[in-house]
Amino acid sequence: MSITTTVNPLIQPLGEMPPDEVVFGRTEAMQAVRDRLSKLAGANVPVLIQGESGTGKDIIARMIHANSPWRTGPWVKVNCPAIPGTLLESELFGYEKGAFTGAYGTKPGRVEMAHRGTLFLDEISELDLGLQSKLLQLLQDGQFCRIGAQEDKKVEVRVVCATNRKLEQEIESGTFRADLFYRINVVNLHMPALRERASDIPDLVDYFLNYYNRKYNSRAMPISDELMARLGKYHWPGNVRELENLIKRYVILGDEEVISSDLAPRETDFFNAEIPIDGQISLKKLTRQAVRELERKVILKVLQAHHWNRKQSARALSISYRALLYKIRDAGLPSNRSVRRGTAESVENRRIAAD
Ligand SMILES: Nc1ncnc2c1ncn2[C@@H]1O[C@H](COP(=O)(O)OP(=O)(O)OP(=O)(O)O)[C@@H](O)[C@H]1O
Ligand SMILES: [Mg+2]
Repeated sequence: MSITTTVNPLIQPLGEMPPDEVVFGRTEAMQAVRDRLSKLAGANVPVLIQGESGTGKDIIARMIHANSPWRTGPWVKVNCPAIPGTLLESELFGYEKGAFTGAYGTKPGRVEMAHRGTLFLDEISELDLGLQSKLLQLLQDGQFCRIGAQEDKKVEVRVVCATNRKLEQEIESGTFRADLFYRINVVNLHMPALRERASDIPDLVDYFLNYYNRKYNSRAMPISDELMARLGKYHWPGNVRELENLIKRYVILGDEEVISSDLAPRETDFFNAEIPIDGQISLKKLTRQAVRELERKVILKVLQAHHWNRKQSARALSISYRALLYKIRDAGLPSNRSVRRGTAESVENRRIAAD
C-alpha cells in the first residue's frame, strides 16, 4: 500500500550543519555563545541573534530548534527581505477566502505552520511597523489574525529572530518598535566577528578543506604556514562565510595564489597603486585582483546610486538578485546601507522576491 504524504514547502528540513566543535571552536566568545545556547534552548523563550553577516546566525538558530523541546515539530524560516512587502503579511499570517482580490481560498500563514515548532524570522529589522505590531501581539498572547478573519487564532510557537543591524539604533530612528524589541530580546545571543576569534581560523580552514575536498572529489593540500598566518591577520569583513568561500575557491582552483590575491587589502586604490616589477610578476594574480576590485567598486557605486535598493541595483547591473547578494557578501560589502531607509521609499522597493 502506498502512503501519500503532503510535503509542506514552508516547513523546511534543518539541513546539514558543521559539527559542534567546529561551530564553537575554542575561543571564549564562542564558548559564551555555546553556554547560553545550552541554557536557553530548552526554555520556550524568544531569542534574538545579533551579529555581522556571515557569523553563523542561521546555524545557531537551527541549533536552537534542534535542541528545543519542539525539535520534532516544524522549523519554519522566513527571510523577511526576500518576500515582497505586500505579500509578507499574508505569508506570515495567512488569509481567509475573499480577504482581498485574488484570495480565492483560505490560506494558513507561516506563523500557523510553525505551531509547536520554531518560527525563525531572519533580518527582522526589515519588517514594517504594521507587521511589527502584529508580531508583538503574537509574542504577547500567542494570538494572531488571518487577513480578513473575524476572530483571532491561538498558536504555540517559539520565535527566534536574527539581524545584522543594531536594533537599538533603529528604535532611536523610529523604525523599530521598542516594545517589540524587548519582547524578542528576552535572551540575546551575540555572534562574534571572525576577526575577534582569529585563533579558531586554523580549525575552520581544516574543516572546510576536508569538506570541499570530499564534496568536489578533490585533493587540495593543506595550506602553508605562511598563508595561515596571513589568514589570522586578515580583517574578514564577510566573516566565516568569506573564509568558507575562500577555501572553496582554493579547493576548486587548487592554487594558493587564489587566496593570496583575495586577501589584498581592500582599502588601497588598486588601480592607481604602483605595480611592483621587481622579482617575479604573476599576471594571472594581478588580473584576478583587478577584476575583483573593479567588480567591488562598480557594485558599491550602483548600490549607492540606488539608495542601497538591491533589487534595483541587480537590474541595473544586469545580474540576478541572488547573484548580487552573493557578490555583496563575497566582496565583504555591507548587506544593508547603514543609513535607514526613508519612509518615502516604498515597501515594494525594499522587498525582494525570491531569495
Ligand atoms: N561557526 C561556524 N562554523 C562553521 N561554519 C560557519 C560558522 N558560521 C558560519 N558558518 C558558515 O558560513 C556561512 C554563513 O553562515 P550563516 O548563514 O549562518 O551566517 P549569517 O550570520 O546568518 O549571515 P547573514 O547575516 O548574511 O544571513 C554558512 O555557509 C555557514 O555554514
Ligand atoms: Mg543568515
